[in-house]
Amino acid sequence: MAINTYEVQPLFAEPMFRASIEEAISPKQVEFLKNLKMVQNKSNLISENLYIFDLPELKSIKKAVHEALAVYASEVMGISQKLYVTQSWALISPQNIGMHGHSHSNSIVSGSLYYCDMPTPVAGMVFDKHRTYRQIELDPEQDKNNIYNTPMNVVVPKKNDVLLFSSSLQHFVQVNTATEPRYSIAFNSFVKGTVGSHKDVSALKL
Ligand SMILES: [Fe+2]
Repeated sequence: MAINTYEVQPLFAEPMFRASIEEAISPKQVEFLKNLKMVQNKSNLISENLYIFDLPELKSIKKAVHEALAVYASEVMGISQKLYVTQSWALISPQNIGMHGHSHSNSIVSGSLYYCDMPTPVAGMVFDKHRTYRQIELDPEQDKNNIYNTPMNVVVPKKNDVLLFSSSLQHFVQVNTATEPRYSIAFNSFVKGTVGSHKDVSALKL
């Protein structure tokens, strides 16, 4: 018997949130960010200051990022607790440099912000569906990719985009093939409020 009609029901999905915070970023702040003291990371450059959103010069950007986190918490996660930024840092990928694969420990939602013009072509953020070692690698044929089986997905950032995603999600940045450097900001967040249940003795006040 040939199965001609069938349905596939999506059970769960992985969110990647994107919003523009153009109005919160001034040309003066762009210059300020581009001139932050940078040090060598594994291959790219990272700001010496790893709490840049605490700088008074970046107050409006921090506020806009918190607004995006508030939307993510209430509309994507559907939770009543608040997300707040913990560490925040600037990154630069010079020509021919990308960023190794990683995920963000001790954070719930992580994000990146592209505060200035992106070089052409834009190096994308590549998200990996697999969070653990893969004993069996059953990847789909190239023309059979779909939302259920794709092992990776590329997100191409635009100027003023803030991207939010689960901190446990593996990701890397493609090599910057443009001559211009690729500037970005990254940040982590944690939750504030009460989680768990008083009655079930699982309550935790954060
Ligand atoms: Fe990251």
